[in-house]
Amino acid sequence: MDRLAGLSGAAMERPQTVAERVAGILREAIAKGSLKAGTVLRQDELAARFGFSRMPIRDALRQLEAEGIVSIHPTRGAFVAGMDSAEISEIYAVRELLEVEALKLSCPKLTEAQLTEASAILDKIDVEPDVGRWGTLNRAFHLTLYGACGNARLLGLIEAQHNAADRYVRVLLSNLDYRARSQSEHRKLLAACRKRDVARAVMWLAKHLREGSETLVRSNQ
Ligand code: NI
Repeated sequence: MDRLAGLSGAAMERPQTVAERVAGILREAIAKGSLKAGTVLRQDELAARFGFSRMPIRDALRQLEAEGIVSIHPTRGAFVAGMDSAEISEIYAVRELLEVEALKLSCPKLTEAQLTEASAILDKIDVEPDVGRWGTLNRAFHLTLYGACGNARLLGLIEAQHNAADRYVRVLLSNLDYRARSQSEHRKLLAACRKRDVARAVMWLAKHLREGSETLVRSNQ
């Protein structure tokens, strides 16, 4: 008898630490624009506002610094990092060039297993509560669809662009309206791949990337 059989359907939700909760609240406020670029984030003020000690606040700020959302200056302290609109546009333009090419090559050759995997990733995104994981799952979805392109170097270049865009995508996906729209585009893209309709799949991918880029540049103004 499988002693752990009863675990299979259980939701594997890891309890969040105080620092993760604080990071989540700040990330969302920054993504929504309620905390603007340049806003100073003082540990003592945040501790008083949230009713926590300074230690988890400091950990939360370090976490956001690692994600590129917050900058920590040695004397001026932590502040909300600015996003460079020109950089966002460049990354998305390069993503479109590379990913459209990879999709054209991959779409006709995608296996049933790859299509099923892509669909399973979208279902995971729908129920994932952790914003940090959405970016990872979004990347996995895209790379799965390009997985049959047969060019490892092309996939490597695409991954490098995803790394460069990571902090921007995170901000983008914290926006719930955008997340719903993005998921609907993902599903249309996947449906076109299932039908091996390369032209339609490319159209949805290009639209998806342009809207992502435009939404980010807009939220940055
Ligand atoms: Ni996407």
